[in-house]
Amino acid sequence: MIASACGFARVMSLSVLLERLVVSSTLGLAALVPGHVHAAGNAGADAFATECAECHSLKQGKNKKGPSLFAVVGRKAGSVEDFKYSSAMTSSGIVWTAEQIDSYITLPKKAVAGGIMKYDGLPDAKARTDLIEYLATVK
Ligand code: HEC
Repeated sequence: MIASACGFARVMSLSVLLERLVVSSTLGLAALVPGHVHAAGNAGADAFATECAECHSLKQGKNKKGPSLFAVVGRKAGSVEDFKYSSAMTSSGIVWTAEQIDSYITLPKKAVAGGIMKYDGLPDAKARTDLIEYLATVK
């Protein structure tokens, strides 16, 4: 039942309201069962896969070109051990609230000048919101 409703939400990509309903009604479950996040047709998981997964893993302790984004929401910038950040990042004083992540991924080079994230930014505000909501469940 959940799966078919989510499949429907995924197909009806215009139906933002429906998607929100499905996401919010399954979020509690998704947080307990990470495998269900994607099954829930979560647009944020899809955005992560296309925009960020090349460089970021969501597994704790797994760094790629960028640091692991496991439990990134609420974390201090530059705090993953074993990842070699730019000094711009470690000295930024940023705490990754949803708002800070939003501003960073809108225009990384502007938000952290001198940073080394080679990503041009995600102009689509809804995609950013979905993505950050998804990141908040990975903890
Ligand atoms: C081309 C590779 C690449 C892509 C694509 C990329 N990143 Fe990054 N990201 C990095 C690197 C490298 C850093 C470290 C930046 C620094 O030290 O200045 C980073 C750092 C970050 C940080 C700070 C983490 C911390 O521990 O302080 C966040 C948050 C982040 N990225 C989110 C994202 C999101 C969300 C996306 C997708 C929208 C994304 N990144 C796409 C390479 C990438």
